Amino acid sequence: MKRREFLGSCALLSGFAPLACAVALPEGVEVRRYARARLVDAHGNPLRQAAIAAETNYVFMYPYAATPCFLLRLAKSVPPAKAMHREQGDPYMAPGGVGPARDLVAFSAICAHKLAYPTRDVSFIRYQRRRSATSSGNVIHCCADHSVYDPSAGARVVAGPAPQPLACIVLEHDAARDELYAVGTAGAEQFVPFFAKYEMKLTFEYGGLGRAHAPVGDTTVVRELSNYCRNTIEC
Ligand code: FES
Repeated sequence: MKRREFLGSCALLSGFAPLACAVALPEGVEVRRYARARLVDAHGNPLRQAAIAAETNYVFMYPYAATPCFLLRLAKSVPPAKAMHREQGDPYMAPGGVGPARDLVAFSAICAHKLAYPTRDVSFIRYQRRRSATSSGNVIHCCADHSVYDPSAGARVVAGPAPQPLACIVLEHDAARDELYAVGTAGAEQFVPFFAKYEMKLTFEYGGLGRAHAPVGDTTVVRELSNYCRNTIEC
């Protein structure tokens, strides 16, 4: 997305708190920067990188109270991914992993196809380590219509109907304090269509759309998907 186009998309959010602004990082990763939120555990303590299990689905909300994201520790370090493309074709670069092994990545958990996402009741989308009849393994697989994303390559689409990658959640790791932060997104966000599609559902669940669309604040709680969602669909 070109800077001018991005600023135009910011205007779409103008009915809510103007959270976002564009920051071009030196590495060439253009970040849509939101308020910096520290990742914490269920007790409110900073999430230490060593406490994050490999190839396990973790969920946290960012940048809004109702927009879920996946946090993953992959089995290898993750370099930045160049030549990523949004649906309209404009290019961007996905950030690589963070942490000592560069293996920690995060993505919006809102599927780029028809916006399936993890709820408290069910999740059709999740990281799948093992190969299955419909999946090659080591992918984020949305079982709703079998869109498959590669988390080691910016959540690039590798199969299925999704027209573009999942949005990257840009992380920072403060090595001195061993603290993780979410600071923004890179790539194609789905927040505007997400809030439009699920307006009534979110209004009911959160006691108002404004609460669902509120920024997460200074901290956001990270939970294993299995502790957040009652039914994770396998495929
Ligand atoms: S909503 Fe995820 S593949 Fe259709």
